[in-house]
Amino acid sequence: MKKKLFSILLCVLMLASLLTGCSGKDKATSGKGSKKVGVAMPTKDLQRWNQDGENMKKELEAAGYEVDLQYANNEIAQQVSQIENMITGGCDALVIASIDGGSLGTVLEEAKKGNIPVIAYDRLIMGTDAVSYYATFDNYMVGTIQGQYIVDQLDLENAAGPFNIELFTGSPDDNNARFFFGGAMDILNPYIDSGKLNIVSGQREFEEVATLNWSTEEAQKRMENLLTAYYADGTKLDVVLSSNDSCAIGISNALVNAGYTGDNFPILTGQDCDITSVKNILAGTQSMSIFKDTRTLAAQVVKMVNAIMKGEEVPINDTETYDNGTGIIPTYLCEPVFADVNNYKELLIDSGYYTEDQLK
Ligand code: BGC
Repeated sequence: MKKKLFSILLCVLMLASLLTGCSGKDKATSGKGSKKVGVAMPTKDLQRWNQDGENMKKELEAAGYEVDLQYANNEIAQQVSQIENMITGGCDALVIASIDGGSLGTVLEEAKKGNIPVIAYDRLIMGTDAVSYYATFDNYMVGTIQGQYIVDQLDLENAAGPFNIELFTGSPDDNNARFFFGGAMDILNPYIDSGKLNIVSGQREFEEVATLNWSTEEAQKRMENLLTAYYADGTKLDVVLSSNDSCAIGISNALVNAGYTGDNFPILTGQDCDITSVKNILAGTQSMSIFKDTRTLAAQVVKMVNAIMKGEEVPINDTETYDNGTGIIPTYLCEPVFADVNNYKELLIDSGYYTEDQLK
């Protein structure tokens, strides 16, 4: 009997040691002695996320971390399972650019239980206190720069107008979209209210002008419908506000297909300086794009990861803007600028972001 008890005890002990020995966390931190960082990006479809992912990996590896970089094809379930694997696979910190900011609460509970810090990358993760920090470009400022660009280009302070405008923003499940749109509308609203800017379609509310998943195709379809419904009689379209490039590309396609060219082409804003959009800027079928140098954001996030890992003070510069529903998330905001035909060389080529060949 005693012997049997002893062998059961031995089995239990062996199993326990096997289980702890197998836990990825131990492997990742003990194995090579380096810490592992999970980087979850939303999709490979959009150029910017590829650049973000690559820059993060490069910078983190240079700082001595092991990196598990995953792209989720814009599928929420896929991103959730990638994050689950990062947690069970022993990641010591997570950097996440969410697809749907409101869908990660459950999986991040596991991160919290495992004391794994989470940095929300570019997009805030909503409704969970598992988020430790947020790093992004100043999203509200992105919108105000786009709005101000329109004001300056049309010389709204002095010109009599009225000018006809249509509005497009991004995905309703992306917290950033409301900041972009809000920033732009804070600049444009006074001119709309005074009648200097005229929204011919009347579509002004966020929900009416949002574009699910920031889809190029959806934006193109909506622009085509607007052109047919409101501009087919020759009404001039002077400007289209678009919160980003993936939407601007669809809008631009619709305008080109409808025969808009040269001076007749409306002012069209964007964001990200995607190669297609920069080419459109050079061709005159988009006016500007917000430049968010992903190298700057990646470098900043690496500084934050380093500080967290070493228990040092984490660099942040905003403690009041981004409430994710559980309280304010300490944030580092990088500063966006705009690129257009006049300054793109200095911003995009001289800085080494693109080569001249990539823009041909
Ligand atoms: C990012 C933008 C991007 C958009 C679509 C936003 O959260 O801040 O840079 O254009 O998502 O991917």
